[in-house]
Amino acid sequence: MTEPIEFIDPLSDEEGADQAADLFRSAYGQEPQGVWASPGRVNLIGEHTDYNAGLCLPIALPHRTFVAIRPRADTTVRVVSTLSPDSVTTADLDGLQARGVKGWAAYPVGVAWALRKAGYSQVTGFDAAFASCVPLGSGLSSSAAMTCSTALGLDGVFGLGKGDSDEGRLALIDAAIDSENNMAGASTGGLDQSASLRCREGHALLLDFRPGLTAQQSAHQEACDFSKYGLELLVLDTQAQHALNDGQYLSRRQACENAARLLGVDNLREVADEVNESADPASALEEVLAKLPDDVTRRRVRHVITEIGRVPQFVDAFARGDMEQAGRLMDASGDSLRYDYEVTVPELDTAVEVARSCGALGARMTGGGFGGSIIALVKEGTGRQVAQKIADAFAQKGFHAPRALSAVASASGHRVR
Ligand code: GLA
Repeated sequence: MTEPIEFIDPLSDEEGADQAADLFRSAYGQEPQGVWASPGRVNLIGEHTDYNAGLCLPIALPHRTFVAIRPRADTTVRVVSTLSPDSVTTADLDGLQARGVKGWAAYPVGVAWALRKAGYSQVTGFDAAFASCVPLGSGLSSSAAMTCSTALGLDGVFGLGKGDSDEGRLALIDAAIDSENNMAGASTGGLDQSASLRCREGHALLLDFRPGLTAQQSAHQEACDFSKYGLELLVLDTQAQHALNDGQYLSRRQACENAARLLGVDNLREVADEVNESADPASALEEVLAKLPDDVTRRRVRHVITEIGRVPQFVDAFARGDMEQAGRLMDASGDSLRYDYEVTVPELDTAVEVARSCGALGARMTGGGFGGSIIALVKEGTGRQVAQKIADAFAQKGFHAPRALSAVASASGHRVR
């Protein structure tokens, strides 16, 4: 018999704010000016589409990263986290260059660096203390939870006035992406940061990444309550190693950019719309693929085009309450990520197979892949059993013990103290 699988509970406002503020006091001997929190996410469908100007459908998790912040008059930044409470990392914003900070501190320091670069000269140094219940490196956007909580905190303490509106938050999202891309060296696309700062409780966020859209055009709130249909969304963190800055993610992005060039378009969304809106999408897809030089490129492009097409179908099925169809689309997305985009690993494949064999309506990996988490749409009240079955299969195969959490569509980041 395997050990009972661990379920990760979210921290309440009170608990998270206490942990971050207590650490702040013990590290810096002062009171923070305030505490902000921003969530991790799971993406329901629309994977590896954001950097192809495509569509995604994330929900925010109830699991968040909390940051206690106090501004400084100089350009020094000090950061500390509950994971290593005795080790404060220091950086200087003055003269800081891209990739100039190493380790996890790159994420928060990079946000201040990016905001200053974008013209927010009132942003100076600061002291910050982090506490989080978003599992790290699990494909649940622990990085975005950190950069977005930092962006909200800096917005608050330096009075940028961007955090109070959805439109204003776009500037904070840009700074979070810039930090992850250019300070931390993780070539993330925008899904995670948008989810962390734009999601609404009880809703999934339909994101459209076509360039040039207004805030309003680029996001729609879609009601999302699994329990209304007698279902729950199980998230299972495989604990297989996952990192976005190890080259695999970048190589997928480059394959897509290269394919767009060969097809003579700015991004794969342009071809996706033509294919998915044509009278005969299957033949239109074959025609596009025939223009590409090799099997691998064809499969990468097939994933992106079909995945963009599945997002509105999923939204439609969900809105009609056709959860069987929503589940089938999740399965199709998962299979496309496994066989065409090739971003899964044996742990993800096993978890998905076991969830499906336990009767999940749909199951697939979520996030960037190469490790990380799966999501499974299961009957309400059965999540724990399904998770345990996956843990048993993992033990048999000699994989790391997985962890689980249950996901309800939660709110985006905000001030908690
Ligand atoms: C990671 C990236 C996102 C997105 C997903 C895949 O989470 O950070 O930008 O590309 O992978 O959908």
